[in-house]
Amino acid sequence: DNTTLSQQAAEALTYLQKKVPAELHEPVVGITCGSGLSGLAESVLPEPRCEIPYTDIPHFPPSTVHGHAGKFLFGLLELNKKPIVLMVGRVHYYEGHSIQSITIPVRLMKRLGVETIIVTNAAGSLNPDYSVGDLVILNDHINLAGLAGIHPLRGPNADDFGTRFPALSDAYDLDLRRRAHQLWKSLGRGTKSTRRLHEGVYAFVGGPSYETRAECRILRSFGADVVGMSTVPEIIVARHCNIRVFALSLVTNNAVLEAGPRGDDIAIQGSSAQDLYKAIEKGKANHEEVLAAGQNAAADVQQLVGLLVRDILST
Ligand code: 6GU
Repeated sequence: DNTTLSQQAAEALTYLQKKVPAELHEPVVGITCGSGLSGLAESVLPEPRCEIPYTDIPHFPPSTVHGHAGKFLFGLLELNKKPIVLMVGRVHYYEGHSIQSITIPVRLMKRLGVETIIVTNAAGSLNPDYSVGDLVILNDHINLAGLAGIHPLRGPNADDFGTRFPALSDAYDLDLRRRAHQLWKSLGRGTKSTRRLHEGVYAFVGGPSYETRAECRILRSFGADVVGMSTVPEIIVARHCNIRVFALSLVTNNAVLEAGPRGDDIAIQGSSAQDLYKAIEKGKANHEEVLAAGQNAAADVQQLVGLLVRDILST
């Protein structure tokens, strides 16, 4: 595709404006639903709604063999009937698209008039203090791929979106983080459930494999609290065009920081091989576990995000 990112966003916008009814135009808040968190769509009224599959939008990365990449959902926030837009499902870098093309949806949201995005994801925990089911407000990230040159802003700068050398030192809006903590407190979650709300650092990895034990230890020693395969490219492109950002991880599993059992232990000390293989199974990440944690936490995530969006739209 030889057209510039700006042209691509403009053509995608033209397409959407034809399809989306006027009453749903100009959403100022956009929400990206992470794995297992599509239930966030329930925070918009059943009517009026407009769904646009990504595959119909010009210049969007085509979905891979696994089928539906997802859709844009335009609707009115149930709590106050103001227009918002949701990305139900997202395209990941590991699907094989360029890091630039997976962030076109964010540029499109900018053109739609979005001023704040709320990005959610499922992530593995690297922080021993976190439990499965906990929520983590991101306050920083580590873009491992980006440090090595795989970066969504690499290439000619789209000057009409932002500056060549954007600062990312305070990418995650402090006021939104503060308000989210306050809302969580007002919900009384601390007493009613064991789910806790933390604040921490997200490490972006390319995937699609989960990390090895040794890789988890690297990420932890770098200062990461959670690890995942999304979000950071979107955050960078959003900050480039001055969209305000709030990001929330759901801890779906604990990444394994301890070294695994050693072959020489079995050979020399005669440890039971069966016990050691059980320990190996326990440490393995799997996609089903990730989705199940999402389902259990969905209602809480929905409530917190819904209240935060209402708060944003009323100030
Ligand atoms: Cl442990 N790693 C990565 N990269 N992504 C995840 C995850 C782990 N758990 C959920 N998503």
